[in-house]
Amino acid sequence: MSDKPPALPPIDRTVDAIRTRVIAWRDAGEGVALVPTMGALHNGHLVLVTAAKERASRVIVSIFVNPLQFAPTEDFAAYPRDLDGDVALLSTVGTDAVFAPEGAEMYPAGFATQITVGGPAEGLETAFRPQHFAGVATVVAKLLIACGPEIAVFGEKDYQQLLVVRRMVRDLMLPVEIVGHATVREADGLALSSRNAYLSPEERQQAPTIHRALQDAAAALRAGELGGTVVAEARQRLTEAGFDVDYVELRNAETLALPVHQEREPLRLLAAARLGRTRLIDNIAV
Ligand code: PAF
Repeated sequence: MSDKPPALPPIDRTVDAIRTRVIAWRDAGEGVALVPTMGALHNGHLVLVTAAKERASRVIVSIFVNPLQFAPTEDFAAYPRDLDGDVALLSTVGTDAVFAPEGAEMYPAGFATQITVGGPAEGLETAFRPQHFAGVATVVAKLLIACGPEIAVFGEKDYQQLLVVRRMVRDLMLPVEIVGHATVREADGLALSSRNAYLSPEERQQAPTIHRALQDAAAALRAGELGGTVVAEARQRLTEAGFDVDYVELRNAETLALPVHQEREPLRLLAAARLGRTRLIDNIAV
């Protein structure tokens, strides 16, 4: 057995470079999947790459901290960046290429187009981050057009984002299948997120309460309790545990509309809450 570390995947910095690579793969009859990321990679991302690898012979991971999806008050400048570390991690899961454009490659001078999604983008995150999904939809469309995969894989931790991307892809008739992958969690239930790095040791202890509150709320709903009561209880539990709650909501799992017939619809519970300076989001199927 060789002790040699796996070879690092090549890094393409321009749209021309990634397109040339993908054309060569296609000419050789290979299938292509994309995993879009903002870097600061953790095991949750690596699981997405492994899932992509099961569906396509070639996997591209994009790494781009997208300024368009951050509000001026948010952590764009401070967002953790470690391209070398990310690429080393990606080499362990068989990534075939990294697409890591600079800001000016994605948004050259004069850039003036944004994609606004309605439907699943309304409410929830949008009530607190009004420009966020326009930024996400715009960059994801550009990444899909640049890389031309037939599959793109997204984590369910950002459940609203997953549905927004699906809606955008359908509405713009982009020829790509959007695959959602179950949230990867720590042993204590905390959803993996690059922003967990901001938590103090005490906050890290408290953070899994968000998952536990959602689990208990989902169990109560399955036992027939009313959505309004269950959501209010989960919210109160989080507040008592020291969270500053943005929302806990019960929604239709396919459209994110408010449920009309709780007992006959696929349901999803979604929450966002701040612990100190860290904003955590999570969700769970009911
Ligand atoms: O989920 C993320 O990391 C980002 O929102 C995405 C999809 C890479 C777009 O910038």
